[in-house]
Amino acid sequence: MPASNVDPVKPASKQVGTNTCSDTGTLDLIIKSLRSPTMICEGTHFDRKIPHTFVIFGASLQPYEQAKYDQFWALNHYVAGSYDGRTGFEMLNQDIQLLEERKKANRIFYLALPPSVFDEVTVNIKNICMSVDGWNRVIVEKPFGRDDVSSKALSDHLASLFQEDQLYRIDHYLGKEMVQNLMTIRFANKILSSTWNRENIASVLITFKEPFGTQGRGGYFDEFGIIRDVMQNHLLQILSLVAMEKPVSCHPDDIRDEKVKVLKSIESLQLCDMVLGQYVGNPQGKTEDERTGYLDDPTVDKDSTTPTFALGVLKINNERWQGVPFILRCGKALNERKAEVRIQYQDVPGDIFEGNTKRNELVIRVQPGEALYFKMMTKSPGITFDIEETELDLTYEHRYKDSYLPDAYERLILDVFCGSQMHFVRSDELREAWRIFTPILHKIEQEHIKPIPYLYGSRGPKEADRLCEQNNFNYYGSYKWHASKTS
Ligand code: BG6
Repeated sequence: MPASNVDPVKPASKQVGTNTCSDTGTLDLIIKSLRSPTMICEGTHFDRKIPHTFVIFGASLQPYEQAKYDQFWALNHYVAGSYDGRTGFEMLNQDIQLLEERKKANRIFYLALPPSVFDEVTVNIKNICMSVDGWNRVIVEKPFGRDDVSSKALSDHLASLFQEDQLYRIDHYLGKEMVQNLMTIRFANKILSSTWNRENIASVLITFKEPFGTQGRGGYFDEFGIIRDVMQNHLLQILSLVAMEKPVSCHPDDIRDEKVKVLKSIESLQLCDMVLGQYVGNPQGKTEDERTGYLDDPTVDKDSTTPTFALGVLKINNERWQGVPFILRCGKALNERKAEVRIQYQDVPGDIFEGNTKRNELVIRVQPGEALYFKMMTKSPGITFDIEETELDLTYEHRYKDSYLPDAYERLILDVFCGSQMHFVRSDELREAWRIFTPILHKIEQEHIKPIPYLYGSRGPKEADRLCEQNNFNYYGSYKWHASKTS
């Protein structure tokens, strides 16, 4: 459909969200001509004189600030066509050309597509829709395959069409404030960099918890499971930033070289180092969702053994980390929403406090409520010589009251405009991630390993806490962090 015949897309979520991810064979193309001054970024290689056309294939969008949202949509054009065949792509290309008033124009293609149509769409983009004079960049959303073989096929396919520096594989955890902060915390603080090793650290626990179930996404989720959905990507990316050596510089490839190097030192995950769980409805639950177990979801197979909770212990075989367990824990329908990194230091040697000393912990709280706090022991205030746990607390909401923390996608999409691949996944990182997880995923699926049932709204299976304990992570239960109230 020519652009002039197309109404601005409103509301967005309907047309570009759910129905594009279905397998209807419909190609929903949104052309966003982003020439608004709000997209200009200072101090980067982003050339404000060149118009950019941003093309989204099937992404789901959320409204937030209404005025900006309307302004944004007024700049949008929508072209509907089929995923297969050339016609839709030819129409798309014509429409883009009409929008691009100047000769030299750059194009960004955003692909949030079901795997079944991925090859065809990318071939058509390459053959029909590329900008001739400007640059072309392609954002790719997961899934990046479902194991090492399918991921390699996808990487090879993309490599046959695009250069690696045109590809932006999104892992939105890399766009989160505290995940981006990991490098600064580690490499700009002497006190931390000199204790960041096996001589001082007992274990590292990286947690992702959600207090809700699959909520209608059961069909997708049952195919993938929590290991592919969260652990193999988001949590492993965090691990690599926590564990990598200091890069030569902040250049994206120097950073990604170090991430790959540390991933290469990790052995494939073993079943004996895992706990798998699947939530069941809580009959005492207040809402219908809480009373609904995973297997009660009508879009989930009744005998499904897909885990909705997983804990896995990874071992890094290098000089810095040998013997330090890296525990990855993630789950749906748990007791709270939380994503954090917990660095637990070793016991103080030569105890003089009658065994009352608890371990130091550095906690990097990714969400909700970004914070960095250091759990430490102090003398109880007053006329006493008792000791107690307390914290040095950097809660962003208080310390940076007036700062705006952009959403992960906001940062990452801007990075694509600026041509920075620092927070995107390179193909060799992906290959290593699948090497670590493919054997266990195949074993779980081929042997139909039964996950342990856990109650909706609980901490997950008790076995997970036991495995943490066996891996040198001490949970005392005597301390609860509350975001500080003072500025
Ligand atoms: C997605 C997963 O990648 O991340 C979802 O597919 C999960 O299952 C989501 O809910 C969590 O993202 P966030 O930013 O809300 O923590």
